[in-house]
Amino acid sequence: MEHKIKVLVSEEEISAKVRELGAIISKDYEGKDVHLICVLKGGIFFTCDLAKRISAPVTLDFMSVSSYGDETVSSGRVKIVKDLDDPIEGKDVLIVEDIIDSGRTLSFLIDMLKSRKPASIKLCTLLDKPERRVTDVEVDYVGFNIPDEFVVGYGLDYVQKYRNLPYIGVIEG
Ligand code: PRP
Ligand code: MN
Ligand code: MG
Repeated sequence: MEHKIKVLVSEEEISAKVRELGAIISKDYEGKDVHLICVLKGGIFFTCDLAKRISAPVTLDFMSVSSYGDETVSSGRVKIVKDLDDPIEGKDVLIVEDIIDSGRTLSFLIDMLKSRKPASIKLCTLLDKPERRVTDVEVDYVGFNIPDEFVVGYGLDYVQKYRNLPYIGVIEG
């Protein structure tokens, strides 16, 4: 079934924001290597685009956690679907996410990764819905604060679909 989707953040706005965040991150990590951790699946497009805008040497790893499954409401339980390939001890870790909603996924992930003794750990999210927060999460870099609407595109899915839209949209029906 096809849905009508209204553009919330355009492709151009995303691209400008990614450059802006890349420049800030490049400055903050000057003289260091950045170990980017992409949170699959949603974080895939943002991670790819952001990585290209960071001037510090970048290494990449991927983790897949899921709290929503195919639901639109979080189950509240975070499941590790795929762990990292490499150890993060001593590394300057930057977690890259598409969206922070309740905060459950990221607070779980940050606690778990902190126990592996990285040199530092920061979080970068393209989208944030602060009013939806259930669990506190410290977010270091935010692209856009957005209202409490169900968004898709640029990594975000509705029942696994629409991740490949080049913009962030809201399903209208
Ligand atoms: C979505 C989104 C974030 C998380 C945010 O992932 O990509 O990872 O939920 O929600 P929270 O702040 O309420 O925890 P999802 O579990 O749908 O997996 P996916 O990335 O594979 O779509
Ligand atoms: Mn996700
Ligand atoms: Mg999802």
